[in-house]
Amino acid sequence: MTQRKNLHELEAQLEQLSAQEGLALIADLFPGKVTFSTSLGQEDQVITQLIASGNIPVKIFSLDTGRLFSETLDLLSRTEAKYKQIIKVYYPTTDSVEKLVSDIGINGFYDSVENRKSCCFVRKVEPLRRALAGNEIWITGLRAEQSANRSDMKRIEWDEANQIIKYNPLLDWTFDQMLAFIDEKNIPYNPLHDKGFISIGCAPCTRAIMEGEDARAGRWWWEDSKKECGLHAR
Ligand code: ADX
Ligand code: SF4
Repeated sequence: MTQRKNLHELEAQLEQLSAQEGLALIADLFPGKVTFSTSLGQEDQVITQLIASGNIPVKIFSLDTGRLFSETLDLLSRTEAKYKQIIKVYYPTTDSVEKLVSDIGINGFYDSVENRKSCCFVRKVEPLRRALAGNEIWITGLRAEQSANRSDMKRIEWDEANQIIKYNPLLDWTFDQMLAFIDEKNIPYNPLHDKGFISIGCAPCTRAIMEGEDARAGRWWWEDSKKECGLHAR
């Protein structure tokens, strides 16, 4: 209860600050206990730029599912070089991937939502738990505009599934605002964005979108589900 009240107060405080000021405040309040997850998407590239240019002491990690686009891994390397910032990469465990593939097949995620969720669990959710362990704040690039499911998120909120406070500094940024910032600061981005890909995840589960389609329509496009992988379970 006290924590909820504190988060409510922090939310009000963060509302008055820019994203970069907010990141600096959080790093100050939770020294050594703040970690940022980057998928190398456009939102995450903006946050990396804010952290690096502000010299904000925050750890950065990425989850390599083993099925990412090569363009994404190239961008990880380019980003580390540009910002002189280490991005720690977490992998799924060998045993769990071997079991998954023998249970559902190498591309078994296309066969059912259940199989797809098992794959996301092994390749993303479990590694995420290891990456978050020992931290108090998890920074993400979620924006409210991305989907109906994300529209009522708070800038700072308790994440029950991962037992950590989640901070979304770009929550109220619009898509156009983000693109303008990337352009202005010359931030490196995934070349797939120029080919119609908006939200980019694993290669077999992401396609480009067509004009007028929802930004997340290209993720798990064959499903009618909520199109969430379990990282952001609510
Ligand atoms: S997902 O749940 O559909 O995969 P999305 O791609 O929208 O998530 O990304 C939202 C946020 O989740 C990103 O800004 C990032 O913080 C985190 N995230 C997603 N995928 C990864 C990944 N592979 N590695 C690290 N963080 C990730
Ligand atoms: Fe597996 Fe696709 Fe989920 Fe990636 S997005 S972890 S390949 S089901």
